[in-house]
Amino acid sequence: MSYPFQITSLEQYHKDYKKSVDDPEAFWSGVAENFQWKKKWDKVLEWNFKEPKVEWFRGGKMNITENCIDRHLSTMGDKPAIIWEPNNPEERTRVVTYNRLHKRVCQFAQVLKNNGVKKGDRVCIYMGMVPELAYAVLGCARIGAIHSVIFGGFSAQSIADRLDDAQAEYIITCDGAYRGSKDIPLKSVIDDALIGNKTVKRVIVYTRTRTPVSMLKGRDVWWEDEMEHAESQIEKEGVVSFPAEEMDAEDPLFILYTSGSTGKPKGVVHSCAGYMVWTTYSFVNVFQYNPGDIHFCTADIGWITGHSYIVYGPLSTGATSLMFEGIPTWPDAGRFWEIVDKHKVNILYTAPTAIRSLMGFGLEPLKGKDLSSLKILGTVGEPINEEAWHWYDENIGKKKCPVVDTWWQTETGGALISNLAGVTPSKPSWATLPLPGIQPVLVDENGKEASPNPAEVGALITAGNLCIKAPWPGILRTTWGDHERCRLNYFTAYENLYFTGDGALKDEQGNYRITGRVDDVLNVSGHRLGTAEVENAINMHAGVVESAVVGYPHDIKGQGIYAYVIFNSKHVDDELAKKDILQTVTRIIGAIARPDKIQFVSGLPKTRSGKIMRRILRKIAEGETENLGDISTLLDPGVVEEIKNGKL
Ligand code: WTA
Repeated sequence: MSYPFQITSLEQYHKDYKKSVDDPEAFWSGVAENFQWKKKWDKVLEWNFKEPKVEWFRGGKMNITENCIDRHLSTMGDKPAIIWEPNNPEERTRVVTYNRLHKRVCQFAQVLKNNGVKKGDRVCIYMGMVPELAYAVLGCARIGAIHSVIFGGFSAQSIADRLDDAQAEYIITCDGAYRGSKDIPLKSVIDDALIGNKTVKRVIVYTRTRTPVSMLKGRDVWWEDEMEHAESQIEKEGVVSFPAEEMDAEDPLFILYTSGSTGKPKGVVHSCAGYMVWTTYSFVNVFQYNPGDIHFCTADIGWITGHSYIVYGPLSTGATSLMFEGIPTWPDAGRFWEIVDKHKVNILYTAPTAIRSLMGFGLEPLKGKDLSSLKILGTVGEPINEEAWHWYDENIGKKKCPVVDTWWQTETGGALISNLAGVTPSKPSWATLPLPGIQPVLVDENGKEASPNPAEVGALITAGNLCIKAPWPGILRTTWGDHERCRLNYFTAYENLYFTGDGALKDEQGNYRITGRVDDVLNVSGHRLGTAEVENAINMHAGVVESAVVGYPHDIKGQGIYAYVIFNSKHVDDELAKKDILQTVTRIIGAIARPDKIQFVSGLPKTRSGKIMRRILRKIAEGETENLGDISTLLDPGVVEEIKNGKL
C-alpha cells in the first residue's frame, strides 16, 4: 500500500517535481487534502521574501495532534505509536499504542490547563528521552501552547537565555536523565537557570532517575501527582478526549533555538499546518514508509531531527516510531545493532558522526547481529564522507538497503534535498535531488547564478552558495520576537532568495553535494554552534583578553573546535588555564561546545580596521602553513609566524 502522495517511481518524481514548480498551489492543496482540517483554507500560498512573509493554507483551521493521534484511532488504536528503548538494556521496553498515546496526551493537556497554561503561552521542555517528553510536546500542541524544547546537554546559562528570549512561563523537566553511564541532574540545572528569573510560574517535574531534587513550594509540582489528578477529573467528567484547540494554519507550533553566526542563538519559529504537511510529506517520500514499518531515528528530540522525524512526521503518518533513551556506545558499541535486532527495525536514521564513531570499533560489535529487518538507511546533520557512506552501506545495509543522505536545517522543518529511498538514485556523499516544491540555486558572491566550472576534471561541476528560490510549506516563519533578525539572517544576503548558509556543488544531472557552512557556524558532531557564541563563552573567563574560534577537520566529529586565546597573565600554568576555560564554556553553553584545542597566543591576526582574519586562523588550524594568502594588510604580520610555530 502506498500513501496518497507517495512517489513510487523515478518517472513520478519528475512529474510531481514539475507540477510542484509549475503550479505550487494546486500541488500542495492536493497534498493537504489528505490531512484532517477543522476548516479548509481560503488561500494555499501567499508570500514574498522581502519582508519576509510566508503563509500556507491561509484561513485553514486544524490541530496537529488530531492529525498525529485522533485520526488514527479508529483503524490503528491498538498499533504501536512509540516503542521506547531505555538507556539500560536490562530495563523494560515500553510500547505506547495510539490509544494509549491519545489518553496520555489528553491527560497531560488537562494538566497544562490545570496549571494555567493557555494557547500561545511558551512552555520550555528540558527532559531526557522518555515517552513523557513526547506527551509533553504533544500536550502543548493539543492546547495550542508553544513548546520550546531545549537539548539536555545545554547549561543553566543557555536555558536562562532561552527562557528570557521566549518569555516562557512554564517548564517541564525530569529529576534527571540517563545517558550511557551518566545520570544528568536536569532539575538541578533548571533550578540554577531560574535564579533571578521572574517569568516562570510553574515547573512540572517527571520522575525518571530518583535523583534527590529540591521542590520549591508554589512553583514546582510533580508530573505524577498532576497526571493522577487530571485522570480523576477526566473520569469524573466522563470526558473521553481533551478537545484539541482550534489552531490557525499559521499559528506558531513551536520555537527551537539554533546557532547562527552571531553570538546569540535565535528562536526559529515553525507554523502549525505548513510544518505538519512538510514533515509528513517528506517522511513518507524520503523513507518510503510502509504501514507497519518500524522507524528508528537516533536523534534527540532536543534537535529539529527529533521534532520532525521522531514525533510529528512519523505520528502524522500513523507510523511506529522507536525512541531511544541512550547512546550508541553504551554499554558497548553494539547497542544500535542490538536495538535493530530486538525490535526488527526497518528504517534506521542516524548521523555521520555516529557512523564514524562506530566504524572506529571495527566489525566486532556486529558479530552475531542479524540486521536483516533493515530496509532503508538514512543520514543527516553534516556531510557524510565516502568512507563512512560505504561502511554504512556494506556492513549495516549489506548493500541491500538504499542509503538516503538527507540535507536540511532547523529552519527548513524537514528534508529538502535527498534521494527518495529506492525511488531516485543515490550517489555516495551526495544529497542528490531536491524534493518536489524545492527550487535550489547556487549563486556566487555577487548573487549571480553560478555556472559550471569547465576546469573541473571529469564532469561539469557548479560550485556556489546554496539558496532556495521559493517557499515550501515547512520553511521557518520568523525568529521569535525579532522578525528583522529573520530577514537579515536569511533573506538579505541575496535578493529574493532564502540563503541556507551552506556551500554546495551541483553535477550535470542536477545532483547536489553539500560541502559545509560558508558562514561562521560550526558543525561539531552534527551540533550547530556559532564561532561567536563559543568565543563569547571563552571570553567570560576572567583571565581571557580575547579569543578567536575556528573549525578544523576532525575524524569523528566532522569538525573540531580550535580556539586561539590571549590570556592576561604571563605566569599562568597553561594546563590549568585550559581546564578553567573548558569549565567556563561548559557552564556558559554546555559540554558540547568545549574546544578540542586551545592555543595561547600573544596576539591575533587583525586587519587595520580591527577585524580578525579567520581565514588565516582556519588555515593554520587545518595544518596549512604555506599558502596563507596575502598577510601584508595585517596590523602585525609577525603574529602569524608565532601562531604557526605554536600550532597544536
Ligand atoms: C548541515 C539538522 C550535509 C548543513 C537537520 C546545515 C548537512 C546544517 C546535512 C543544519 C547533509 C545537515 N549533508 N550537510 N545531509 N544535513 N547538514 O539546523 O550545514 O542542526 O546547514 O539541522 O547541518 O543543522 P541543523
